[in-house]
Amino acid sequence: MSISTICCIGAGYVGGPTMSVIAQKNPSIKVIVVDMNQARIDAWNSEDLDKLPIFEPGLDAVVAEARGRNLFFSTDVEGAIHEADMIFISVNTPTKTYGAGKGMAADLQYVELCARQIAKIATSDKIVVEKSTLPVKTAEAIKDILENTGTGVNFEILSNPEFLAEGTAVQDLEAPDRVLIGGDQTESGLKAIEALVNIYATWVPKNQIITTNLWSSELSKLTANAFLAQRVSSINALTELCESTGANIDDVAKAIGTDSRIGPKFLKASVGFGGSCFQKDILNLVYICKSLGLDEAANYWEQVIIMNNHQRSRFAQQIVTSLYGTVAGKKIGFLGWAFKKDTNDTRESAAIYIADKLIEEQAHIQVYDPKVTAVQMHSDLNGLNSRTETENSQFLDIHNNPYTALEGAHALAVITEWDEFKTYDWQKIYDGMLKPAFIFDGRNILDQAALETIGFTYKAIGR
Ligand code: UDX
Ligand code: ADP
Repeated sequence: MSISTICCIGAGYVGGPTMSVIAQKNPSIKVIVVDMNQARIDAWNSEDLDKLPIFEPGLDAVVAEARGRNLFFSTDVEGAIHEADMIFISVNTPTKTYGAGKGMAADLQYVELCARQIAKIATSDKIVVEKSTLPVKTAEAIKDILENTGTGVNFEILSNPEFLAEGTAVQDLEAPDRVLIGGDQTESGLKAIEALVNIYATWVPKNQIITTNLWSSELSKLTANAFLAQRVSSINALTELCESTGANIDDVAKAIGTDSRIGPKFLKASVGFGGSCFQKDILNLVYICKSLGLDEAANYWEQVIIMNNHQRSRFAQQIVTSLYGTVAGKKIGFLGWAFKKDTNDTRESAAIYIADKLIEEQAHIQVYDPKVTAVQMHSDLNGLNSRTETENSQFLDIHNNPYTALEGAHALAVITEWDEFKTYDWQKIYDGMLKPAFIFDGRNILDQAALETIGFTYKAIGR
């Protein structure tokens, strides 16, 4: 079965880059990315490639090559569903904020809406691919909705979870460690799997394309994120111990990471992990375990989140304690707001929680981030609902220049590991700050010896 038109519902951080690379590598397939958000689609269609709605290194070149040739962005969701042989569901699945499973389960309303839209529109057979991270067995619900349309249209459901990390999305898509495709092990299910394998096989070696049943694929995605997040929490769980014993967390990470069974990646101590996936997926895993009565497994995974929350608040507390127990009326500069470098995404960024805690202590936060907009930062803080918007705006100042953000500050906190921070004129920054000038390096990226020579009081995580 060969595919001539693909539709992707959801033009976000996953759908946008993934479809751009699929279109780039398969010029003979028409790829239509649809979203109900007109502004987002307009941004994807913008002539000026600096105005794409998401910032990802290398994405502008991929879009420039494929857009208008075989890659299209549109708000005509129904038209694209009608035309496509294969439909990717790539919509958001946030943690539920209401009802049963509030704060833990994934909110599937957007996914269900997509399934209902597909059921309503389709007049020819379709392969429906789950791209969003979903709880195990979601495919069953999608199947149920699609198979009860009474139109005689045949649907095959596949699970093809995305493993791209933001900031390296294009690289991860172009050279993935593996592609995972799950589907029914029936004759028609296997044919659908093969159709998707062929799309990826235009650039991914076949031995890196893993095929499984639906449930293994869905669970593998949750598990991969849980394992990665667990590594970050594990290293962060050792930082306090290092601080009180004189051990150095970076040395410890290096020493253990050279064991080939452990490996060096994902052992960087930090202010805590953020991003749209880790917390959501673990909470979801915990919820599934609890629902099945598997309390020990649920408690085990929940600890990864508890540790992460602790790391964020501990970092904020360390700033307060070091500044003689009070930050009221003091200016604290933040370098970075994004949840990691090379992205403008701020979802679940530690910055939001650290700023919130410091503002609770009446500190004034002055932020510089190379890619995050002021509107986004205000909206992140307001989203916590700790204070009114007016109160927040009195305590949060956003600068588009790092030197002015740090001018007159008592302390600065490195929240995101942007490379440019290492290239600053630190003498100039020191001269502009109040003394003693403190640096709280939440990513351990700056040169401690050089900064101490200038006169800074430098505190790293886990040293
Ligand atoms: C993650 C997974 O890596 C990806 O496979 C999945 O598809 C989506 O979720 P992402 O959230 O984009 O990707 O970024 P990732 O690089 O995994 O970082 C997540 C968070 O962990 C960031 O806040 C990052 O700063 C933090 N982190 C990561 C650390 O604090 N230390 C590390 O050693 C690694
Ligand atoms: P992700 O990081 O998973 O890509 P995003 O929130 O960045 O998540 O993107 C999801 C996109 O899906 C949003 O732009 C949202 O407008 C879109 N979306 C959600 N539901 C629908 C729907 N039923 N039809 C079209 N677009 C949808």
